[in-house]
Formats: sequence, structure tokens, C-alpha cells
Amino acid sequence: MPNDAAQRSARARGATIRLGPKLLRWFAHHRRSLPWRVAPDPYRIWISEVLLQQTRVSQAIPYYERFVRRFPSIEKLAQAKQGDVLKAWEGAGYYARARHLHKAAREIVRRHGGKLPENANALRELPGFGPYISAAVASIAFGERIVATEANGLRVTARLTLERGDPRSAIVRRRLEEHLASALPANRAGAFNEALMELGETVCTPRRPSCPDCPIASQCRAYRELDAPEILPHRPRRSRRPHHRVAVVVLESDGRWLVQRRPEHGLLGGLWEFPGGKIEPGESPADAARRELLEETGELAPSLRPIGVVHHSYSHFSVELHGFLGRRSSRRPPAVQGPSRRWVSPEAFARLPVPRATHKIVALLGESGVTAPGRPSRG
Ligand code: ADE
Ligand code: SF4
Repeated sequence: MPNDAAQRSARARGATIRLGPKLLRWFAHHRRSLPWRVAPDPYRIWISEVLLQQTRVSQAIPYYERFVRRFPSIEKLAQAKQGDVLKAWEGAGYYARARHLHKAAREIVRRHGGKLPENANALRELPGFGPYISAAVASIAFGERIVATEANGLRVTARLTLERGDPRSAIVRRRLEEHLASALPANRAGAFNEALMELGETVCTPRRPSCPDCPIASQCRAYRELDAPEILPHRPRRSRRPHHRVAVVVLESDGRWLVQRRPEHGLLGGLWEFPGGKIEPGESPADAARRELLEETGELAPSLRPIGVVHHSYSHFSVELHGFLGRRSSRRPPAVQGPSRRWVSPEAFARLPVPRATHKIVALLGESGVTAPGRPSRG
């Protein structure tokens, strides 16, 4: 009698062979009607996959719609100014994605006649095209037979194969993708990839998979062998996210606010915000506000009035922002201006791409009864 391992791997092969047809049949009936599926074209598929890589479908939809309305084609995106691209992406987070979309569009126009290259290897050469996006666009838009899967698909596959390692590690990920590659149908790779991710989003969810409704339950080792399939995939305990305390100054002069642009690379790159920075240990928020304003802009804040505190969470840390309003005498010469620092009216401010936390500060200005600059006070 063959040993257990051989038997198991034969069974896995048999299961794998049946996976494609079952998933595709399920997808044909349960495929959600999503905006990027209505009149799909490679550009729209690209934009949607970039959003979906870090954003859940329900959250991604409004951002997707706003973005493609504003930039309906690769040419339009390529012609845009970077600030306008960031503005259209505002709120979606991970702003490097928007900068890369913009750069890639320009390169596609310059080097590929305005059309996306049709295979994953060629796509990989473009800014922002990592392994997932390249494979997703190549398979979904152009039918290349290649596995494209993200957290949802990897979770399903880990359960199917009773994988106990962490899918975020490169070795485990490779193992899961190899398993999928052996199941990939020859000419329906895009639908297979989408079906698997969709199954993860709607049926094989992180905490409460609906195994009785699952089209591939009969092939699923977690379902057959575990009391609780949801214990997979393995999630290493996350260390606590650091928390930062930050002071922010809205410096106002003649109805304008002083804003500055963040460096191109790094967190929130290219977005505009008010001067400010971390509160040092033992330092009061007001002292930090005064110090940061002076260090960053050379401005001495005459008097700073607290306007409140806002909280914001990022993927790897959280912040509390202590907001202050400073009014500056307009008789003194203007503070340093330049491409990355400007005095703007509230109307001009509204056209700049800014982080969500900065919008919260502006909301405080209204709530705290502080008059919006340039507007008459109303009780
Ligand atoms: N998640 C990421 N890409 C997806 C797609 N194309 N369909 C469903 N879920 C997804
Ligand atoms: Fe996920 Fe359950 Fe389906 Fe297995 S049977 S793939 S655990 S939903």
C-alpha cells in the first residue's frame, strides 16, 4: 500500500484538477456586477486592481468611479498634472499607488503607443507594476495563463491545502501559487483568478467562512480535517502599532493659510499639509507647535490658539494631532515660499491633494468657532 504522503499528494492532484471548473461555474452565477466589470477594458482593469490590492471592494468602488471619471483613458491620465492625480486619489491612501499610476501612464504613452503591454513580463517594467498587478492585468485583461492572487485568494488556498505557514512569507506564498498554477485552466486564467479572490471576499471570509455554501468544500482540506477552518491561515501576532503625538499649526495671514508639500517619496508623498511635527517627550503641544513652525518655516508664531485634537490611524501607526491656529501680522514680509510652500486661500486649499488627517484639522477650525479666514464671523 502506498504511503500516506503519496496518497495525500495524489488526492491533492485529483482535487486540483477539479478546482477550475467548479470555481468557474460558481463564478458564472455569483460574479458581482462591479463598475470595472461593466464595460471592461485594460485601463479600467488596471485601475481597479491597483485599488483592490490594498482596499476592500466596497470601499474601492467610489474611489474607482471618481478616478476613471476624472481620467477616462491612459492618455488623459498621462497628460494630467501630478497634483490633480493625487487629488483624484485623495482618501484612498497609499498615495505611492497614484504617483506610480501617473508615471506608468506617461511611460505607456511614450514607449507603448498609449496601450498597455499584453503580458506580465512586459508589464513588470512599468512603475508600480509588481508581481500581483502585472499578473492580474495580464490574466484578466489579456488572458495570459498566469496566477494572480492577493490576500483573499491566498487565504482560500491556504485552507484548501491545509497550509499552516504564514502566506505573507515568500516561501509559503510560492507554495500556494504553485498549487494554483497546477489548477489554472488553459484559457480562463483571468476568470479563475477573479473567482478565487471573489470566493475569499464573499464566502471564505477571514473569520466566518460559509463552508456549506462553498463550491469547493468537497476539495477543501481545512473543511474536511479541521473543526474550525477559520484558524487558517496562520496569523502571527501583530506587535502594537506605535502611537505618535503631533502638533500642527494653521498659520493664517490675510485670509490665507500656510501649507507645504510633503517630499515626493515616503508616506503621503506629494500631499500638502500644515506645518507641524512630533511632540517631544516632556514637551507641551503648544511648545512643539511653536518649535516646529519656527524650524520648518522660519515663522515666529505670535500667539497660538488651541483648536482641538484629532485622531487618525494609518496601517502601521496611529497619531493624535493637536491643532493650533496662529494669526500672523501681514505687515511683515512673507515667510519662505517656493514650490513646496505656499500661502493659499481656503478655495485654493480645497483644490490641493491633502491627507485625511489634514481635512480633520480644517473641520476643527469650523467646529471650534474660529472664523474661516476671509469670511465674516457668524456668531
Ligand atoms: N480582489 C482583487 N482583485 C479582484 C478581482 N478582480 N475580483 C474580485 N476580487 C478582487
Ligand atoms: Fe473556505 Fe470553507 Fe470553502 Fe474551505 S470549504 S474554501 S474553508 S469556505
